[in-house]
Amino acid sequence: MNILITGGAGFICSHLTERLIGRGDTVLVIDNYSTARRDNLKAMDNLTIVEGDIANTDLMSKLYVQFQPEVVVHAAASYKDPDDYISDMQTNGVGTAVVVKESRKHEVKRLIYLQTALCYGDPQEQPITLGHPMEPSGSSYAISKTAGEYYVRQSELDHVIFRLANAYGPRNLSGPVPTFYKRLSEGKKCFVMDTRRDFIFISDMVDILEKAVDGTGICGAYHISTGKDYSIKELFDAVVKAMGITLEEEVEVRERSPDDVFSILLDPSKTQESFGIIPSLPLDEGVAKTIDYYSEYGVEETFTHLRIPGKEE
Ligand SMILES: NC(=O)c1ccc[n+]([C@@H]2O[C@H](COP(=O)([O-])OP(=O)(O)OC[C@H]3O[C@@H](n4cnc5c(N)ncnc54)[C@H](O)[C@@H]3O)[C@@H](O)[C@H]2O)c1
Repeated sequence: MNILITGGAGFICSHLTERLIGRGDTVLVIDNYSTARRDNLKAMDNLTIVEGDIANTDLMSKLYVQFQPEVVVHAAASYKDPDDYISDMQTNGVGTAVVVKESRKHEVKRLIYLQTALCYGDPQEQPITLGHPMEPSGSSYAISKTAGEYYVRQSELDHVIFRLANAYGPRNLSGPVPTFYKRLSEGKKCFVMDTRRDFIFISDMVDILEKAVDGTGICGAYHISTGKDYSIKELFDAVVKAMGITLEEEVEVRERSPDDVFSILLDPSKTQESFGIIPSLPLDEGVAKTIDYYSEYGVEETFTHLRIPGKEE
């Protein structure tokens, strides 16, 4: 199949790209490298990487004409500065509108959209079900990604929207795991927020994405999650263990910031029924594999959509 992957050089979709190339698909990646490492995706047969912006209508139009994608996985997203509303809206809103418009024009068989669970805002239930109201007003990232979801829903294309739990694994540069690794390896003190998250290892996530590329699951929204949440302190302790270090004192637990939510635990039942996959890698094992990657490649930069109190320390 010809598969176009936006944001395909980033964490999640560099793994998906490798999976698809490995089984014989032809993949076109467009990425502007705003949050991707250049060593994530190596040159491979049947892979073309275009460095560019998904909001560039002329470029996107040309790529669709030349490549004729059958399936599009839309993962490019802007989130690295919580105050940069314009970049967020340009990529997540306008860029998604461009992807949807071109996908309709070229009658792609399926459009897959990666969405953030922050679209739910402060959850009114645990676990969060797919019918939970959308309330993304807490962050520019969530607002603009949710605008993107509405364009996808309106498209009349066969689409699958995945609202994701916190993915982690090799190449992950956002969220707590790379931050803990970087600070601990530089001998700096860490703190953890008093929040809980549903952490899913990258290969478990890619198993489900691959099935969606192949047409599994009827048109609509799904979660990709384990259905189990961990405190950030438990995650921190797993990182410390995987790094083989001993700390003299317990890590400081800080109160969450106003744009953060206490727990994001997503109900995985519809995904498990439709895709037949239950994410299974235990947290300790996934964290150990992630730390192995950081030890080999290092962590130069990390990204977050959050305003973290004391981030500059
Ligand atoms: N990682 C998670 O836990 C998580 C959770 C919820 C949702 N998501 C969603 O999954 C998708 C992939 O996230 P990820 O964790 O791999 O992050 P990532 O930052 O590694 O991937 C996003 C990619 O998009 C690229 N990009 C940004 N703006 C672009 C533009 N204008 N044009 C072309 N490329 C652009 C970046 O360079 C990057 O490679 C995103 O849509 C994100 O919103 C991720």
